[in-house]
Parts: sequence; C-alpha cells; structure tokens
Amino acid sequence: MTAICDAGSVKGVPRYKFVRSIVQQKEMIRNLLTTPVRNLSKVRFLNCEASAYETVLVEKRDKVALIQLNRPKALNSINQQVIEDLNKAVLDANADNGIGAIVLTGSNRAFAAGADIKMMEPLSFSDTYMGGLFNDLENITKAKKPIIAAVNGFALGGGCELAMMCDFIYAGEKAKFGQPEITLGVLPGAGGTQRLTRSVGKSKAMEMCLTGNFIDAQEAKQIGLAAQVFPVDELVDRAVAVGQKIASFSKVAVALNKEAVNAAYETTLQLGLDYEKRLFYASFATKDQKEGMSAFREKRKPQFTDE
Ligand code: CAA
Repeated sequence: MTAICDAGSVKGVPRYKFVRSIVQQKEMIRNLLTTPVRNLSKVRFLNCEASAYETVLVEKRDKVALIQLNRPKALNSINQQVIEDLNKAVLDANADNGIGAIVLTGSNRAFAAGADIKMMEPLSFSDTYMGGLFNDLENITKAKKPIIAAVNGFALGGGCELAMMCDFIYAGEKAKFGQPEITLGVLPGAGGTQRLTRSVGKSKAMEMCLTGNFIDAQEAKQIGLAAQVFPVDELVDRAVAVGQKIASFSKVAVALNKEAVNAAYETTLQLGLDYEKRLFYASFATKDQKEGMSAFREKRKPQFTDE
C-alpha cells in the first residue's frame, strides 16, 4: 500500500495510470507464479496465425466459438488480464466468417466469482474513476454475433454482470447467481443494478443487491434471468448445440434480431417498435430474405449466404 500511496510522486506519470500499472504488474507476476504451465494456453484459433491467452481457453466447435474463462485458482475472478483476453477472444470470433455464435463458460465450480477483490482492494476513487475500472468489460457487448453464457457454479458480482452482458443465459443445475458487492462495502459496478433490474424487475433486483443473497439455477430460470437449466455435465454441449442452430441461419438476420431485441433495453415501446420496423424493412434488402422465403415456397432447406 505504501508503494501505491507514493505513486503520486512519480514525475510525469499520472497517479491513476501508475497505480493501474502497478496493480497490473503485481497481478501478472501473481498469475505467472500461480498458473500451472498447462493452463497457459497457446491456441491456434480461427483466422489468426496463433493467439495466446493467459486466462481463457478457446475452442472452435464447427460454427461455434467456445470461450472458457480459465483462472481456476481465483475462481475465474475478473482482472485486467481476463478482460483483455476475453475481449480479444470475442473480437476474434466475431470477425471470423466461419463462426456464427459464441458460447462463454467457466468451470463447473465457477463461471466467475466476481471482479478480483484483491486487485481492487488498494484502489482509490481517482484510480477507478480516471482509469475507467471495468469499462472495457462492456466491449464484448459490441459483438454482432450472439453470445450465450453457459453458467455452472458461481456467477457472482462481476461474474453475474458478465453473464448478463451475454445475449442469454443457460444455467447448470448447481449454478448460483448473486450480487454480493454490498458485503464488501460497495455496489455492483459492471451493470448489476441496471441489467439485473431490467431483467428481473425492481423488487427482486433490489433484494439481491441489498442482501447479497445468492439465488439458485431454478430460481434464476423462474425469474427470467436464465433461459433454461441443464444438468451440469450437459450444459456446455447443450449451449453449443443451440449455438450451432443459430449459426445455421443468416448471419445478417441473426445480427438484426439481436440488435432489435437489445434496443428494447434502451427505448420506449413506440421508439422500439419504430426501430424494429426499420430493421425489418431493411432485412428485405438482403439476399438471405429472398432465399429464406423462396426456400419456404419451394419446400427446400434455405442456403443462406449472409448477404
Ligand atoms: N476475487 C479474488 N479472489 C477470489 C474471488 C474474487 N472475487 N473469489 C474467490 N477468490 C479466491 C479466494 O480468495 C480463494 O483464493 P485463496 O485460495 O488464495 O484464498 C479462492 O478463490 C477460492 O475461494 P474460496 O476459498 O473463498 O472458495 P469457497 O468455495 O469457500 O467460496 C465463494 C466461494 C462463495 C465464491 C467465495 O470465494 C466468495 O464469496 N467470493 C467473492 C464473491 C464476491 O464477493 N464477488 C463480488 C466481487 S466485487 C465485484 O464483482 C464488483 C463489480 O461489480 C464489478
């Protein structure tokens, strides 16, 4: 802590940048010391020559990119390295023409147990505010391709928020969701108070944020946070299978559907309806609309070309 407090005296380096870099360096060293060599994944992925991720594993399963958070010793808690790796993996998948959907998962024990508390502990207001702590995590929401969160184990704090940044959530039977930031003397800082409220309504979101209580997979489904619940061992395969189904459709139509549903989060009903109409009309400018409708009339399977 003393080194961090002294950081303001470093000539020419803004304090928040210096502190951020110290925190990152400490994190990197800790990760290097604690991560088994087999977990330092160097994977050949998609169109890239070779991509190296420290904290995620990436696998291409036909038309689905499966991205797995892989920081097991800290229950996949989210630090700067996780954010960088995750953003890169999602952007790579988004740019790959052979990929039509993305599945994001963790381990059976934890999807992600939140933001990294040990990384955050020494930070000051100006460190977080000037450094834009966790702003970059939102980048995954810019992907045009749908992201399915497959949540086994804990999805807490930033982990629950990360799952909610995805387009929909499938939960394993043992999943636990919660926003326990209140127990740490803070509040959710990556969308928990906003996305959870829009997803499950004020009363339940307020209860979860004010008590820090966890809910299980069945309750998450009942309140509309999770779309489906699957047995733990089947979860990822079921999510990938649904990803393959989505990937079989026109990529343009998939992206238009995603954009229209997401617009419902941002607008009034009438503006949302107008926006949906514009996108619907725009879909008639695509070759895939002609192909989809002529295939229906000709009683054959459509051959979409994503044009
Ligand atoms: N940050 C850093 N390390 C974490 C972590 C986190 N969020 N969650 C777990 N870990 C670490 C633990 O410190 C522990 O490491 P050590 O072995 O080095 O001590 C390891 O992961 C295993 O954790 P536990 O021993 O605690 O495992 P458990 O099974 O007894 O409990 C748990 C599991 C209930 C998830 C518990 O670890 C826990 O409560 N974690 C914190 C959850 C939390 O509060 N998340 C919110 C973070 S704040 C946030 O996310 C802000 C935001 O909105 C962006």
